[in-house]
Amino acid sequence: MEHAGKVGFVTGGSRGIGKEIAVQLAKRGAGVAVADVRESDVGEVAGELRRLGVKAEGYVCDVSSPEDTERAAEAVIEGFGRVDFLVNNAGITRDKLLLRMSLEDWEKVLSVNLTGVFNVVKAFAPHLLKQRTGKIVNISSVIGLIGNAGQVNYSASKAGVIGLTRSLAKEFASRGITVNAVAPGFIETAMTGNLTSEVREQMMGVIPLRRFGTVTDVANVVMFLLSGMSDYVTGQVINCDGGMVMA
Ligand code: NAI
Repeated sequence: MEHAGKVGFVTGGSRGIGKEIAVQLAKRGAGVAVADVRESDVGEVAGELRRLGVKAEGYVCDVSSPEDTERAAEAVIEGFGRVDFLVNNAGITRDKLLLRMSLEDWEKVLSVNLTGVFNVVKAFAPHLLKQRTGKIVNISSVIGLIGNAGQVNYSASKAGVIGLTRSLAKEFASRGITVNAVAPGFIETAMTGNLTSEVREQMMGVIPLRRFGTVTDVANVVMFLLSGMSDYVTGQVINCDGGMVMA
């Protein structure tokens, strides 16, 4: 019950990596506010978390909308009285080679994956800065570090998350707030579920540990960054990719 009395806000928390982070936070006793665009799932996940014995609420919130993130932040502070952890996990892909990628494909991915992080941090910043304690974890990607053909929008957004993380870590350090990023590699979720067996084989070939990651692999690293074990760690990117970034 390491996090009893604490509250976490997890975006994209209704499935995949975000849901596992929400569950692990609940298992450590934290109250959890789950935000997602998928309305029915967000309510269902909040119910599952409550059955683990913690306070939990689901919020329908599109992180690319500043109105939505402001509204969610107000509701969370009103409902839970505080927030200690922000986990910016919501993310999408719209993969295409550059020549076929429309401006809309580019802007959509940037608006969710990068502007979404900005919107959430802006909405909760007054509260966190006043509280003078808190931890922010942003989910980037190995693709933000090494690039990938067909993903200029996604890789730019995830590289942007790393720049945002480092700058914010410097801005918030004097207020006792740490800001770090996790860069997962190939993780088995809905996001990677419809890749062809050819692409999967290719990916496997560049993973030194010779297996795809699980949502638990990523959530474990996030738990470290949200725990007291990482109090002296800020502005860092932790790769969780079976060694893929070295390949
Ligand atoms: P997922 O597609 O299973 O889950 C993403 C969640 O974000 C969904 O519940 C979705 O409804 C939600 N979401 C999408 N747009 C949103 C918006 N505008 N506002 C709020 N919620 C929104 O994906 P997965 O695999 O769990 O990915 C989670 C994060 O991890 C993403 O940021 C992704 O880019 C990142 N990541 C995933 C990797 C993988 O191999 N699965 C690898 C590296 C990074």
